[in-house]
Amino acid sequence: MNAITMLTDDHQKLRPFLRKLAQSCHEQSEQEVNTALDMAKAALTGELDRHIDLEDTLVFPLLAQSIGSEMVQTFIDDHRQIQSIRDQLYSADSLMRRSLTLALDGMLQDHLDREENMLFPAAESQMAPETLELEPNEHIMPPDNDKGP
Ligand SMILES: [Fe+2]
Ligand SMILES: [Fe+2]
Repeated sequence: MNAITMLTDDHQKLRPFLRKLAQSCHEQSEQEVNTALDMAKAALTGELDRHIDLEDTLVFPLLAQSIGSEMVQTFIDDHRQIQSIRDQLYSADSLMRRSLTLALDGMLQDHLDREENMLFPAAESQMAPETLELEPNEHIMPPDNDKGP
């Protein structure tokens, strides 16, 4: 499977959870935020970490060879910041939860947008398509059996 397609599919699965989190922060009730955080937990922890691991260890090193490690490094730095805020958020008290949720939502949306609008197109224009093909055993995300709602 093409690595960029796989990463973009992951982003599409994550975005509805981010939308829901942002919405919940604009509601008055704390319960709304907690419910949205519970619903997003699997996507923002195990699944996000697998996605980031695939980018950091497999895909970005490939991209760095053709588009330069400097551009790729900013995205790797983002990953560390995103994971750090995510970890703080899930152990935060209710006072901090809303502001950390908004911070994570903003940072993650911006990161996904920049990957899709800048990094991935640069990779696709600079690299031969076969370079971006991953072997089946390189798939870190579980196979996608349900294609959406
Ligand atoms: Fe990504
Ligand atoms: Fe990323």
